[in-house]
Parts: sequence; structure tokens; C-alpha cells
Amino acid sequence: MAIKRCVVLFLHVALLLLAGSSPAASQLAEGYYSKTCPNVEAIVRGEMEKIIGVASSLAGPLLRLHFHDCFVRGCDASVLLNSTKNNLAERDADPNMSLRGFGSVDRVKAKIEAACPNTVSCADVLTIMARDAVVLAKGPFWPVALGRRDGKVSSAVEAANELPPSFGDIPLLTKIFASKGLNLKDLVVLSGAHTLGTAHCPSFADRLYNFSSSYAADPSLDSEYAKKLRMKCKSVDDKTMLSEMDPGSYKTFGTSYYRHVSKRRGLFQSDAALLTDAATRNYVHRIATGKFDSEFFKDFSESMTKMGNVGVLTGAQGEIRKKCYVPNY
Ligand code: HEM
Repeated sequence: MAIKRCVVLFLHVALLLLAGSSPAASQLAEGYYSKTCPNVEAIVRGEMEKIIGVASSLAGPLLRLHFHDCFVRGCDASVLLNSTKNNLAERDADPNMSLRGFGSVDRVKAKIEAACPNTVSCADVLTIMARDAVVLAKGPFWPVALGRRDGKVSSAVEAANELPPSFGDIPLLTKIFASKGLNLKDLVVLSGAHTLGTAHCPSFADRLYNFSSSYAADPSLDSEYAKKLRMKCKSVDDKTMLSEMDPGSYKTFGTSYYRHVSKRRGLFQSDAALLTDAATRNYVHRIATGKFDSEFFKDFSESMTKMGNVGVLTGAQGEIRKKCYVPNY
């Protein structure tokens, strides 16, 4: 009997580890609001269709907002809180100055509050919005387990320390991802999110100018591509110009990001770094063939599910914020 119990316990722990889930994440459930707000996902989808319908370039920013939320204090909507007189919040940290989409989250949350007051967290709203952003950009659908609660704390210092920098190499990125329970496969798969969206010059212009004493540009960047990028970003601190990370299809979710990376045309050092490790390089080249799109879509869905479970608050933890930019009083 004791042996049987041990085996059951072992299987339970193994399943949690496989899913990359914390015990709190296992309290999330797909039908979490089935009695209290049964239409939550339909309402979010309806609003997202309107938002993406008029501003298709918002799909990337909304996906990134969820990622930046989950990597700092877990997926608790702490990235959405405004700074106060006494506290500089995550959204005002350097790496978050280029985040967009806050207004869209407020708009969707207001619709949800009108239908089901004080019931659905901002963290859940953002998680569903990120999934729908991918779907509406022609990417995969995955079911989202719900029940996250909203945090009350948001710190710019933590955001600056915990988000991966664009100059990250594999050891650094692996370490940061591992600290969130995500592995090397999640790193190469989730980097595929760079199929959507744009970047400002300061995120990559170091690679174009004075990269090292012996090279004008980063030698891991295709020289023709570097030339094109230099025409766009005239200086390292040009803050106005935007570059597509997946040129030609930055509003469509697909596998062309991996084709760019495999040709040494990834925009950031973190993208280029994927070619420096055997496992991530093999993945990039495999998906770049265009023969394994459905495999990437499945992998992306799985890694997004793991990311959406990072450090979640559940049960009596945190609160259900009324407005996403301010804690309840
Ligand atoms: C692997 C580590 C990562 C690094 C170093 C990184 C870095 C960056 C940087 C520097 C930008 C451009 C910011 C700007 O200049 O405006 C960016 C944009 C973006 N990132 Fe990442 N990122 C990483 C992983 C991820 C992940 C895991 C996701 C989502 C799952 C993601 C989604 C995006 C999206 C969608 C954009 C475009 C946003 C827009 O259009 O405004 N990134 N990333």
C-alpha cells in the first residue's frame, strides 16, 4: 500500500515537473469562470477582433506585454500597474519603455467588469488577450487555464534585473529562463514570438556600429543585412525608427523568423545566439525548412502554456483588480 502511495506521489510530482508547473499553477483550470463569468473568453475575443481589426500591429505588443508580465513576479498583471509618488513600477523600467497595448487591456477589462464585476483578474485577461493576439495573427490556438489573481506590488528595479536583455548569449538567457522554470527548448521556441512586431534601434544598433575594436559590425550578423539596417538606424540612439523583426511578415505569426535567424538575419544578439548552441541551432534549422510549421505551432502552444503558469497567484493570494493600472483600495 505504502509503495503504491509513493508511486502515485512520484507520478504526481513528475507530471508537475513535466508541465513546468508550480503547485499554484495546478490550481488554474480551463473552466474556472464557467459559473461566475461563462462568456469571459467570448468577450475578450470579440474585443480583440475589434482591436486587431483596426490596429493589426498591436498583436506583437500584446503578446510581449504578457511575456514581460510573467517574467517579473509571475503572471500577476504587475506590469500593468502605474507608478505612484513613492514607487517606480515595472512599466517605467528601461526595458519596458517600449511596451505598448496598455490602453487595449484597460478597454477589454472594462467590458469584462461590465459583464462580471469583481470576478476576472487582469492577469487572466492579459493571458487570454495574448493567446488571441497570436490566433488573430494566424498563429495557433491553445486552451488557457484560468484563475490567476492580481499582484499588488510592481517594481521597476525587479523588471530591470529580471527581463532578458537583447544582448543576452545562450548561458545568460538559459539562466534567466531556468529561473522561471523554462528550459532551453522553451527559449528557442518562445523566441519565435519575434515573428511578430517591431523593434527600436537602441535594441540592436550596437550590432551595427563599433561592435568591437576589430569589427565595425557584429560578425554574426549578415553583412548585407547590416548594411540595410544601418540605412534605417543612422545612429545607436535613434529612438524613432522601427525595424520589423521578421521583415515582410511582421503582422503574421509563422515560421519565417527562423528562416531569417538561420541566414544570420536575426535582429538581436539574443536571436543570433540561437545559432551558437547545438540544440537551439538544430531547432532553428529544422523549423526554417518550412516543413515543420505544425510542430512549431504545437511547441509554441506548449511553451506559452508553461510561461502563462510562471509564478501565478491563486486562491486567496493577491486580489481581483477592478482597474488594471491601480490596486483596489
Ligand atoms: C529570449 C529572450 C528575449 C529577448 C532578449 C527579447 C528582446 C526583445 C527586444 C529588445 C524587443 C524590441 C523592443 C523595442 O526595441 O521596441 C522585443 C520585441 C518583442 N518581443 Fe522579445 N525578447 C525575448 C523573448 C520574447 C518572448 C519570450 C516573447 C513572447 C513570448 C517575445 C515577444 C516579443 C514581441 C512580440 C516583440 C515585438 C513588440 C512590438 O512590436 O512592440 N520576446 N523583444
